[in-house]
Amino acid sequence: MTSLEVELFGIKFENPLILASGINDKTPEQWIRAHEEGAGGVVTKSIGIEPRKGYDNPTIVELPYGLINAMGLPNPGWKGFLEMVEGYTFDFPLIVSIFGGTPGEFAFLAEKLSDVADAFELNLSCPHAKGYGMEIGQKPENVYDVVKAVKDATDRPVIAKLTPNTDDIAKLGLAAERAGADGVSAINTLKAMAIDVYARKPILSNKIGGYSGPGVKPIALRAVYDLAKALDIPVIGIGGITTWQDAVEFLLAGASALQVGTAVSLRGWKVFGEISEGIERYLRKEGFSGVKEIIGLALE
Ligand code: SIN
Repeated sequence: MTSLEVELFGIKFENPLILASGINDKTPEQWIRAHEEGAGGVVTKSIGIEPRKGYDNPTIVELPYGLINAMGLPNPGWKGFLEMVEGYTFDFPLIVSIFGGTPGEFAFLAEKLSDVADAFELNLSCPHAKGYGMEIGQKPENVYDVVKAVKDATDRPVIAKLTPNTDDIAKLGLAAERAGADGVSAINTLKAMAIDVYARKPILSNKIGGYSGPGVKPIALRAVYDLAKALDIPVIGIGGITTWQDAVEFLLAGASALQVGTAVSLRGWKVFGEISEGIERYLRKEGFSGVKEIIGLALE
């Protein structure tokens, strides 16, 4: 029997594929759909203190090798989030993504949402929201302060989602680890833009967005490799994972689990099933009994 199960910070996931925070994870129906289609867990859209409408359209540009998005962190705020999940029970791990402008705001959110979250992912990496995301998360000392504040506010596992828009992502990971993070996830999107040559202006209403999808995969893989070499805590790989081969590459580079986001927008929900079937086939044919056996093999 080949096992796809992984366990991270005491939480069991049926398989290593997790719906990434981003474009397709605003509602409980989307989280349930992702699980029905084969995701082992889910990360929600990032939740802040106050409701946010997000940016005006256009918020997404499709390119040959991925997407640039600038949604503007639309979310119902923590109170609206609690109302939205009321009455639901989820039979898969629910990781709640949170964002704030200060360590205190992150800690406040973690405290308010601890009853509904199996774990928290800290958005320290959105590349374009003023006062949030990577404006905070590019500095190791800020990563440290935010993780420490959240760890003091909740017993739930804490994952720091890191930005690739930095000279050395391992420094950010090490700061998170020193502050007590249970894991890191990488990468969030690369700061990017697209211009309409006839309108002669940026396409996105926010002008600047974040690039994701197959085009960023080699960058994400290198980031995961660097983090897995430097850290003792688990690294969750994100960035252009679209096929089972991509997934296996990330596992070999040291990822303990994987997040899939843009592939859902480009190829549909079926990607979860396709990727996990492919991983299972690869493990069986190569003589491995489970995912855990291949994590980090390319680091040696
Ligand atoms: C957005 O909502 O605009 C994207 C969030 C992120 O990149 O973290």
